[in-house]
Amino acid sequence: MSVTIGVFVGSLRRDSFCKKVAATFHSLMPEKYEMKIIDISKLQMFNQDFDEDGTTPKEWENFRKEVKELDGFLFVTPEYNRSIPPVLKNALDIASRPYGQNVWSGKPGAILSVSPGNIGGFGANHHLRQVLSFLNVYTMQQPEAYLSNIVDSLDEQGNISSDRTIKYMQEIAGAFDAWLDKFIVK
Ligand SMILES: Cc1cc2nc3c(=O)[nH]c(=O)nc-3n(C[C@H](O)[C@H](O)[C@H](O)COP(=O)(O)O)c2cc1C
Repeated sequence: MSVTIGVFVGSLRRDSFCKKVAATFHSLMPEKYEMKIIDISKLQMFNQDFDEDGTTPKEWENFRKEVKELDGFLFVTPEYNRSIPPVLKNALDIASRPYGQNVWSGKPGAILSVSPGNIGGFGANHHLRQVLSFLNVYTMQQPEAYLSNIVDSLDEQGNISSDRTIKYMQEIAGAFDAWLDKFIVK
């Protein structure tokens, strides 16, 4: 049985560093996982009225169904003003509702925070951890994954090429594989 891990990237930017990290991380995960990029860019901003008025957007319904079918989650996020970008929070909120129908619940996940700065998105990482705790996602605790000074890990083509960074990501991928193994019944 194949195991599908949804990959949620908190940046919509064309040349996003997070997108590059997600692609590299994908290549480091064992082949038994299908790493599926989930598009969160088209989700209308959450408004509880839509669900209550019977006007739930089709994209919300499809997204909730897609999340429900996943076996686990990988969140790759930049930090915006010491928190997570609104596009990611919006996605988390949409699939947590209507009340009592939180489709994130009970599944394993991991966070990679990425920044061109020194702190590696620590604030975003921990804000996200707080939200996931409430959503009952079993979020990998260790190793914590703060990818700081990410520009230094890129080659001229903009791909992640630093041996040190790749080794660090390999360790995280190995730990995530072991973490997923604890929760996913094959
Ligand atoms: C609105 C905004 C707020 C930001 N706040 C932070 C911040 O708090 N900490 C940080 O390290 N970088 C911050 N940045 C810089 C981002 O880390 C940088 O733009 C990064 O490239 C975003 O990730 P991406 O390359 O995947 O799009 C901010 C960027 C934007 C646009």
